[in-house]
Amino acid sequence: MYPLCDANLAGYPERAVRRAQQLGRYHLLDRIAFGGMAEIYRAKTFDATGQPHLVAVKRVLAHLAEDDDFIQMLVDEAKIASVLRHANIARVYEFARAHGEYFIAMEHVDGKDMRTVLERCRTKKKPIPAEHAAYIGAEVGAALHAAHSAVDSRNRPLRIIHRDVSPSNIICSYSGEVKLCDFGIAKATLSRVTTKTGVIKGKVKYMSPEQALGRKLDHRSDVFSLGSCLYEMLTRIPPFTATNEMDLLIKVRDAKYRPVSELTPGIPPELEAIADRCLTRSRANRYQTAAEAERDLRAFLRKFMPNYSRSHLGRFIRKSFAQEIERELRMLEEYVLTDEPSDDIGENLMGADDNFEPPEVPFHPKPTSVSIALPQSDFSSASNFTTMPKVEREEDIHAQSTVILEGGRKRQAPPSVPPPRTRGRTQPPPVPQPRGPTRPIYDEDLHSAPTMIIDIGRMRSRNRG
Ligand SMILES: Nc1ncnc2c1ncn2[C@@H]1O[C@H](COP(=O)(O)OP(=O)(O)O)[C@@H](O)[C@H]1O
Ligand SMILES: [Mg+2]
Repeated sequence: MYPLCDANLAGYPERAVRRAQQLGRYHLLDRIAFGGMAEIYRAKTFDATGQPHLVAVKRVLAHLAEDDDFIQMLVDEAKIASVLRHANIARVYEFARAHGEYFIAMEHVDGKDMRTVLERCRTKKKPIPAEHAAYIGAEVGAALHAAHSAVDSRNRPLRIIHRDVSPSNIICSYSGEVKLCDFGIAKATLSRVTTKTGVIKGKVKYMSPEQALGRKLDHRSDVFSLGSCLYEMLTRIPPFTATNEMDLLIKVRDAKYRPVSELTPGIPPELEAIADRCLTRSRANRYQTAAEAERDLRAFLRKFMPNYSRSHLGRFIRKSFAQEIERELRMLEEYVLTDEPSDDIGENLMGADDNFEPPEVPFHPKPTSVSIALPQSDFSSASNFTTMPKVEREEDIHAQSTVILEGGRKRQAPPSVPPPRTRGRTQPPPVPQPRGPTRPIYDEDLHSAPTMIIDIGRMRSRNRG
């Protein structure tokens, strides 16, 4: 029944209406991404004062919800990420179970992930301009250093290693912020799921040689992966590619790649040198910390483009995705929250943990039905936003008066009306709509590769056989 067109909505005669599905405290709006493990939705929730907030909800696919190890890995992801408070790390609010489903609620980064940005660059046959690559690299470096040097409440190092620093986990917001997300396979003292010997986790293409070999890792592994992302931003192609996993593992292990300047003539040599230093096979010759790589990238940027600020990146992303942004905003307009909200806010599974502090802004359930309407705007024009693109728009989304849909009719919500109770489960999820442009046929199999868990021993024996 989705999307349902409701001609009875006064003032919106031709507007498609999609009903958001409730999951715990969250009302799922459009689906941002779909992977082998989870679906990511943009979602709306309300704080104690009734203020709406946009969040991202990562909902575990049904078949994995029965896998205890996998659920434990996600609990660990949520715990690890929730202790990290850094401007370049997407905040995690909770890992919860509600209506029989598991999900992580996290900060919604309104923008595009680096994989999508790179795909667009490949379509346009243009690499990401050097200044943006340097800035994004520096911001990810800052995020990594914060994670690597994080300590618990008793000042003990958490020894967090991300292990999956890859373009799909780097999100550039429309305002030019850069956030690293998905500490899903991070391993820290906090984590209870240990990586078995011979089992490597992460996207092979962006792994460090020691990771491809299944060796014990330290934080310098992430520095190498940062180098792979930087290389791809500068050349449009990843440093290591192959047609099968075994060959890819060998290429990553050997850390041999075509020089950046060969693929992108005219690249500033200082920037190429930074990528090379991250991509050094021997850990001892690499940058020893992500902060060192960040420092060099910032120094390069200061020299190369002294007036650079994050608004430059914001403008670049908004310009590259002007049409998609319009479409996304229009889609958000179409959502109405359920008129039978459930009081079941679910159970937070991050539970009692010495190292876990609840988020400062806990979301309280206050389910109600909301209709979202947005004014027209043009994102393609250059502007100097230093926050969200057209902050007014974002506020507009949230500041809309609450309307309760009753039998398909819209009316203003009286302020004192308590949220109606529901008897069973709420509405099924909206049928996922295809979003964004059709993806180019570029190395698609490798690019869309989900996070993999590979048993090197088994692969070796398979290859011998
Ligand atoms: N917090 C978030 N805010 C906005 N988008 C997100 C967020 N987390 C993930 N995404 C989007 O979902 C995509 C897929 O994420 P994920 O399920 O972690 O898959 P992958 O294993 O490819 O990283 C990301 O590349 C990004 O586009
Ligand atoms: Mg991810």
